[in-house]
Amino acid sequence: MKILVVGGGGREHTVIRKLRENPAIETIWALPGNGGIAADATCVPIAATDIPAIVRFAVENQADYAVVTPDDPLVLGCVNALEAEGIPCFGPRAEAAIIEGSKVFSKHLMQKYGIPTACFATFDNMDAALSYLEDAPIPTVIKADGLALGKGVIIAFSREEAMDAVRGMMAEKRFGASGEKIVIEEYLEGPEVSVLAFTDGNAMVPMVSSMDHKRAGDNDTGLNTGGMGTIAPNPYYTAEIAQKCMNEIFLPTMRAMNAEGRRFKGCLYFGLMLTANGPKVIEYNCRFGDPETQVVLPLLETDLLTVMQAVTEERLSEIDVRFSRRCACCVILASEGYPVSYRKGFPLVIPEEIRGQVYVAGAAIREDGCLVTSGGRVAGCTAVADTLPEAIEQAYAIADCVHFENAFFRHDIGQRALKALQHNAAPSGEKEQ
Ligand code: AMP
Ligand code: GLY
Repeated sequence: MKILVVGGGGREHTVIRKLRENPAIETIWALPGNGGIAADATCVPIAATDIPAIVRFAVENQADYAVVTPDDPLVLGCVNALEAEGIPCFGPRAEAAIIEGSKVFSKHLMQKYGIPTACFATFDNMDAALSYLEDAPIPTVIKADGLALGKGVIIAFSREEAMDAVRGMMAEKRFGASGEKIVIEEYLEGPEVSVLAFTDGNAMVPMVSSMDHKRAGDNDTGLNTGGMGTIAPNPYYTAEIAQKCMNEIFLPTMRAMNAEGRRFKGCLYFGLMLTANGPKVIEYNCRFGDPETQVVLPLLETDLLTVMQAVTEERLSEIDVRFSRRCACCVILASEGYPVSYRKGFPLVIPEEIRGQVYVAGAAIREDGCLVTSGGRVAGCTAVADTLPEAIEQAYAIADCVHFENAFFRHDIGQRALKALQHNAAPSGEKEQ
């Protein structure tokens, strides 16, 4: 079997490694892949957003199946275009990917179907947005409607900051067309949980929960990034909360998309906040999260291709999707200066004995054959162990063995989760309120 994987980050490296466990797969092409992925797949220099070129390549090479994981090709209709040529795919069509592609769409969907989320208002006119802010509760959250590389969310702790954010998006067009419409929403508080779920529109199969660490610096300081590390499972996400999310969020979302004629097939990502008033949706993503995938897929015990094909063929309910009860931790090594500006092109050294535990996010192969850094996030060092403390310790030990000039990483990945675990284990009288 010949499979094409669209994308070229740490998430795609993880998906490719997991697919490789299936002996029926002879060839995996990564479009475009990256210098680290090249050890596990054939990289083809076609951009993940060049849909006509992706389709041409798939047809010419008679790909049997395609896995599309990044947000932009999904929102641009990559799956629709491949399916039109008869190539079965894993990933939602454009009409369903809009659940991530437009925050205005997803907020209205949640409102219409009673799915818990922050209270909000949407605007396509700046003056109306500014006058709304005159007496809106502060802090408040301003979100650009469209895709913005994870940067289109601004949490404003003063009215002035909120107004500046609106002007930045709507007048200065800081996020281009993505900010022509905006959402202004209620500021929520509570632990965050990421839940990825396989769904074919009939069944909803949540994967192991995880926790991302979005800020660049230790103790959640510094700028928001794509994610500096993850752990799984997330100790805040108890069986009771999981059940509530299934009934109040996951299944209602699946049914809502069906009712709108936008059946979602693929991996649906629920970004949740566990507030004092119950779990609420912070965001939907139409794809696997990065770096959530790096801790979730290593815990998947069922063959990934089997699950993906069941989603494509709408028979997910017929298969048993199993996860290990172990724990995982991923520590991201990034280039100093990420997420703003950083130097690249430094030799990246990954010792052979740990190669299987390093998912490469940003590397290229130089003309002389040397693997060099090529991105902000460079490598995800991942360990699976029986307990979370062991997984954290081992992920850091792997990170210590991967070298490139100007590397930086967070030192506290998993620490908040460990505190939650200690709290859960404490006799109830000793728990903090
Ligand atoms: P997003 O790109 O939508 O995931 O937002 C980035 C981050 O902003 C989230 O992970 C949250 O930490 C934070 N955030 C988004 N919406 C809210 C909200 N309504 N209240 C508080 N924090 C939020
Ligand atoms: N880690 C969050 C995301 O993939 O958007």
